[in-house]
Amino acid sequence: MTTTVYVPRDSAALAVGADRVARQIEAEAIARKVDVRIVRNGSRGLFWLETLVEVATPEGRVAYGPVTRADVAGLFDASFLSGGAHALNLGLTDEIPYLKKQERLTFMRMGMTDPVSVADYEAHEGFAGLRRALTLAPAEIVQQVLDSGLRGRGGAAFPAGIKWKTVLAAQAPQKYIVCNADEGDSGTFSDRMTMEGDPLMLVEGMAIAGIATGATEGYIYVRSEYPHAIATLNEAIRHAEQAGFLGDDILGSGHRFRLTVRKAAGAYVCGEETALLESLEGRRGIVRAKPPLPALQGLFGQPTVINNVITLASVPIILSRGADFYKNYGMGRSRGTLPFQLAGNIRQGGLVEKAFGLTLRELLYDFGGGSASGRPIKAVQVGGPLGAYVPEAQWDLPLDYEAYAAVGAVVGHGGIVVHDDTADMSQLARYAMEFCAIESCGKCTPCRIGSTRGVEVIDKITSNQNRPQQVILLRDLCDTMLHGSLCAMGGMTPYPVLSAINHYPEDFGIEAPDRFAA
Ligand SMILES: Cc1cc2nc3c(=O)[nH]c(=O)nc-3n(C[C@H](O)[C@H](O)[C@H](O)COP(=O)(O)O)c2cc1C
Ligand code: SF4
Repeated sequence: MTTTVYVPRDSAALAVGADRVARQIEAEAIARKVDVRIVRNGSRGLFWLETLVEVATPEGRVAYGPVTRADVAGLFDASFLSGGAHALNLGLTDEIPYLKKQERLTFMRMGMTDPVSVADYEAHEGFAGLRRALTLAPAEIVQQVLDSGLRGRGGAAFPAGIKWKTVLAAQAPQKYIVCNADEGDSGTFSDRMTMEGDPLMLVEGMAIAGIATGATEGYIYVRSEYPHAIATLNEAIRHAEQAGFLGDDILGSGHRFRLTVRKAAGAYVCGEETALLESLEGRRGIVRAKPPLPALQGLFGQPTVINNVITLASVPIILSRGADFYKNYGMGRSRGTLPFQLAGNIRQGGLVEKAFGLTLRELLYDFGGGSASGRPIKAVQVGGPLGAYVPEAQWDLPLDYEAYAAVGAVVGHGGIVVHDDTADMSQLARYAMEFCAIESCGKCTPCRIGSTRGVEVIDKITSNQNRPQQVILLRDLCDTMLHGSLCAMGGMTPYPVLSAINHYPEDFGIEAPDRFAA
């Protein structure tokens, strides 16, 4: 009898030796003359348990982790191929509380399938959304996306359906779908997990976007630091083409859609959609002024949908199960789910997909298990390097775009970076300005010059050179950057800076919040 063993091929697992574990299982199986089929799946997103090895048993998959090469012989001795008892036995994978408590819609297959197998994908609801889309008129597909309430998951939370509707209505000889897979935000990895663990879902979402808007060409602009994602995507695209889900005549429908993967330029600002287009066209990544909107004049001057990986990957389930199904998750104007990413100083880092409306406290303690250092958590940066530091007083707010905006914070791409009480918030504020100075595209003055001046002013505050005046100057500078920058790079750098000084004034040597504090 052949036993199926799953060993992730996700970068997070590879980083802790998953390849070595897979090779050792193979060698051990040969030596013991047992028949084992190893499937290199995506990660379940429970990173502290990687390498998480799963074994298919009649009762379901049994998980073992974290497994190292040195554990493999002992696992065989403990009959792990039939789910035997062992110190690393975690029980049925589906019963692990971290997974069981989640609402995995977009990530429903994550870690379950062979990422590049079309057959495995189809056996788990794959391509059901595309098949349904092929029975609808383009405007009906767009209406489904509009009705689902799906908003862009890349940061700005703009309704995806409105963008699609604009591109559908535009008249042009060529239209494009561009997937923003630059994933530059600190502490984020949901795009990478998708591309490495369930890339066909992105392929399907993009094909649906193409059919819905009349675009026949698609590009995926992938962060250059993601070689595994690039390789896996290319393999998945090849298999989808062979199976007729991409190409000149998708499943005999007459619709054409082709996909190309492009390696990004390696700059944070190239994740900004217009800089991304410049880069994709072969130029330096400099932000374009808007208008014209990319939906009307985007890639090579043609109407272009630009969406984040998770936005596009959320589309198949919306089409397969219907807009109402998706919309029933979430709260207010934040519909559906978000794959939150827990990182930084946290005991149980990983991927948590939940409907909008849960709180940061739930994520930090019910899922994350508190800080990795065991010290009290002091500050949590939500939404990447341009997101605010959220203090404990706000940890019970629902994670919802509007609720966060109301306190000067952002949900963004759902990245959550945790700091314990040893963090010096003045240094984190300084880092935000320094990051902006390094990553600025240089097109506008508030960002290019303001960020460098910001570092200097924070240094003067922390070294107590004319501190009260320098605090006023920093606020003034942040105001100029907020309102005078061309894009969110300069426009949002004040978020981490102001939240740090407002919520943690003592770290700046300020006794009490100054009179300008929000
Ligand atoms: C400096 C900067 C970096 C950005 N980086 C990314 C990124 O890495 N990935 C992403 O999806 N969006 C990023 N964005 C947001 C994009 O400009 C754009 O809003 C997004 O691609 C639109 O897709 P969505 O509507 O599906 O979110 C960035 C924005 C700025 C200002
Ligand atoms: S805000 Fe910064 S990154 Fe954005 S256009 Fe201006 S200089 Fe470039």
